[in-house]
Amino acid sequence: MSTAPIYEIDPAKFTADPYPDLKAMRATGPLVQVPQLGATLMTRRNDVFTNEKKIDIFSSWQPQGLMTMLMGENMMRKDAEAHMSERKAIFPAVSPKTVKEVWRASFEENAERILDEIEPKGEADLVRDYAMPLSAEALKSITGLTNMHFAEMNRVSQGMIDGCANYIGNPQIETNCHDCTASIDRHIDGRWDEAQAEPDHSLLSVQLQAGLSESQIRANIKLAISGGQNEPRDAIAGTAWALLTHPDELALIGKGEAVWMQAFEEYARWISPIGMSPRRIAVDHEMDGVTLNAEDRLFLMFGSANRDETVFDDPDTFRITRDTSQAIAFGAGPHFCAGAWASRALIAEVALPKLFGRLTNLRLNPDGEVKFTGWAFRGPLSVPVVWDA
Ligand code: HEM
Repeated sequence: MSTAPIYEIDPAKFTADPYPDLKAMRATGPLVQVPQLGATLMTRRNDVFTNEKKIDIFSSWQPQGLMTMLMGENMMRKDAEAHMSERKAIFPAVSPKTVKEVWRASFEENAERILDEIEPKGEADLVRDYAMPLSAEALKSITGLTNMHFAEMNRVSQGMIDGCANYIGNPQIETNCHDCTASIDRHIDGRWDEAQAEPDHSLLSVQLQAGLSESQIRANIKLAISGGQNEPRDAIAGTAWALLTHPDELALIGKGEAVWMQAFEEYARWISPIGMSPRRIAVDHEMDGVTLNAEDRLFLMFGSANRDETVFDDPDTFRITRDTSQAIAFGAGPHFCAGAWASRALIAEVALPKLFGRLTNLRLNPDGEVKFTGWAFRGPLSVPVVWDA
């Protein structure tokens, strides 16, 4: 383990609300060792921004890592040329051009259809009834798994995320994760020949067109599902909740003094859907008087970096007109989120304007409760709302 100062956490308290501990960790030093997580944490924004790019020290290649063991070796767990060649292969499925010309229209259709279903009811849970199906339908198109039901997409994504964060080694979580990856493999089998016969912009098809191996194709589709369902789901429902609990901020959009994209970017800074990404220390390294040993596990803490008081004034406050250009909710290095353009279009150009545009006098259900959970992945469990139907 590193020689960083030790910082003890209460895992349940940290999962319920990680921010007080993260603030104390930033004050303790650039690096802290957290025995309960078996890792050294990098919590300050500029350190993460600078060091994530030093892939010869902070490596994504983790052959013994949970994600590789459970989901196969995907592009996010590779460095340098091995990584960049696969990133190049998938880019036609997630590029700004493809998002604008191919996926945007289907995002809009799905949002309208889902709102047609819930609007007459006058109440809903924004996570279960709007954000989850909308994110899943988007991911079905982008991955090419149009033969999968949206609820199954959500189940297998959650199962893999739980598996990748299963540092305590719970066997049920591991078994469930294997069941989820097997389901994805069956759905890929069901689309394989069609995708070869009729090329399109999906991840399955562009990887086939690029000549990637079957194991690479399957691993990268599982990666997109693990990282592309919960995050937009949590950002859609979370940003809506943030605006409904900050009516003055919402009013700025109504008055044309701010836009939905600012609301989303500020939410993603304030409550980052992905709070952490792991790295393997490839070589012994000194950083600010701390020795990091080869093979140590290090966590890049995006959720902490985005509340770094040396970069963001009053960071614990949701303020949509603040400058979020220094936020790193989509990462800060070669693994910068490949789904960032699709997410921005889905969340800020479609999901939020349609939701607030279609549901009259949308407000939180006074009888409901909104609970957030998670430190590696963070979002609302439910957001009960009502409106004038
Ligand atoms: C609000 C939504 C999202 C957030 C906040 C988010 C965040 C992130 C972050 C922080 C990383 C970098 C991890 C690292 O540096 O290790 C990442 C990588 C990635 N994300 Fe996203 N993501 C989102 C949505 C999506 C979606 C919708 C997709 C799929 C269509 C996606 C696919 C990917 C892929 C493939 C990578 C790996 C890129 C690489 O290794 O080069 N993400 N994401």
